[in-house]
Amino acid sequence: MKHDTIAILDFGSQYGQLIARRVREHHVYSELLRHDMPVEQLKQKNLKGIILSGGPASVYADGAPKCDSEIFKLGVPVLGICYGMQIGCNLLGANVDVAHSREYGSTKLQLVEPDALLAHLSGEKVVWMSHGDQVNELPDDFMALGKTGTCPFAAVRHKTVPFFGVQFHPEVTHTPCGTQIFQNFLYEICGCKGDWKMGNFIEQACSDIQAQVGKDTVICGLSGGVDSSVVAALLHRAIGKQLTCIFVDNGLLRKGERDNVESTFRDHFQINLRVVDWSERFLTRLAGVTDPQQKRRIIGHEFIEAFRSQTESISNARFLAQGTLYPDVIESGHKDGNPAANIKLHHNVGGLPEELGFELVEPLRDLFKDEVRILGEHLGLSEQMVWRHPFPGPGLAVRIVGEITKERLAMLQEADAIAIEEITAAGLYKGIGQALTVLLPISSVGVMGDDRSYENQHVAAFRAVDTTDYMTADWTRIPYEVLARISNRIINEIRGINRVVYDISSKPPATIEWE
Ligand code: XMP
Repeated sequence: MKHDTIAILDFGSQYGQLIARRVREHHVYSELLRHDMPVEQLKQKNLKGIILSGGPASVYADGAPKCDSEIFKLGVPVLGICYGMQIGCNLLGANVDVAHSREYGSTKLQLVEPDALLAHLSGEKVVWMSHGDQVNELPDDFMALGKTGTCPFAAVRHKTVPFFGVQFHPEVTHTPCGTQIFQNFLYEICGCKGDWKMGNFIEQACSDIQAQVGKDTVICGLSGGVDSSVVAALLHRAIGKQLTCIFVDNGLLRKGERDNVESTFRDHFQINLRVVDWSERFLTRLAGVTDPQQKRRIIGHEFIEAFRSQTESISNARFLAQGTLYPDVIESGHKDGNPAANIKLHHNVGGLPEELGFELVEPLRDLFKDEVRILGEHLGLSEQMVWRHPFPGPGLAVRIVGEITKERLAMLQEADAIAIEEITAAGLYKGIGQALTVLLPISSVGVMGDDRSYENQHVAAFRAVDTTDYMTADWTRIPYEVLARISNRIINEIRGINRVVYDISSKPPATIEWE
């Protein structure tokens, strides 16, 4: 079945994929295409509408990107956003100028005409602006639909051509009425059916993967986290036995992690899975190391060695599958402007170097995290796996402050499992951005029975944060009763921990992890 398609012509906006994502959210299939895509090629698609994205250029600058004006003769509605509005208006005869005053950030949109694009909106609406140029004069064959204090034509339409334009960005969350505007455009103006679902992404992705890899073998490093799990399940759907997954047991995993991965991927999905147990080697190399960056370096190095020890014996392995998401694509420098920019770069442990010589398969690179979770559910991964909190590549090594020993690891695994069990039982897990337990190298005096205890008695710190971007975070206001249960259970059930504290620091300045 050919789905209704919305073509998004990309003029270099940092929000191009965000527009695509908004369209997907409305259950309509979209493709992000070059701004100068020839009309003949657009005609091959089952087009219901076109969106012209924003972009950094000025319409009148030399070499400013333009689209073919024939798109207005395709008989489908066109929505221009920011630069897209300016270029559309320009091609249809309006003048675009430097704005009298530039507008960046939140502003109020006043509705002038309750036309189809702004249907179901009333009163003043908060919208997000980011522009220097704007349309200052509107020819008679256009209609103004909305204005702001400084932008007389913040939303417009042409009277005879199905062209609509908004100077603001309906795709960002700072424009709360943006969802309604997309709804109006996609359903009332373009007449889309809304029959596309994340499940349909799977069919498309599978055929793309098959076309890319042919008969060769693909290797996938499985970490147990959401992204690599979804990639593995997707690749398995696409190429079955041509996929080999590698899971490195570094001895620094959460309680039950290795068993979970084995039972999900080997037993349930029947994926070729190689588990490399390098825990002794990791722990030997880490003995006596207390500096966090040194821990990261050792773990990063050992991980690559462990991985290489397997790949060399897999014949025909030409491809490496990675769970790169769209925010990672921006992060790694393709485009700027993403707040998540530095998280992975400065930690960068668990990544595989280019020298391994594989071609990459990155089927999630257009998706956002929450879309990947939905995709994971469609692929049959458990809710527990799909909603997992992030876990750092160096694992529990950066949650044991000071030296890592087997005893400390065992204590922390138990404490972490108890804390996660309790926040899950209290129904809090999904709402928390990340929860973790840290073992501190501090002995504190306690009374156990009639004795004062001191030696080998540790302090455990529990931390839970509310965050979506992991760049900033606030500590979660966990109900006291839940904290009490976590504390009681950890102290009662784990020999060696006699004190539990709750971390109430925000990021910045405190990072999410302690090391
Ligand atoms: P921080 O502690 O910098 O953490 O606030 C932000 C996010 O990154 C994770 N994190 C890491 N992830 N390797 C990783 O793959 C690392 O070395 C590492 N250190 C921190 C952390 O868990 C949080 O989600």
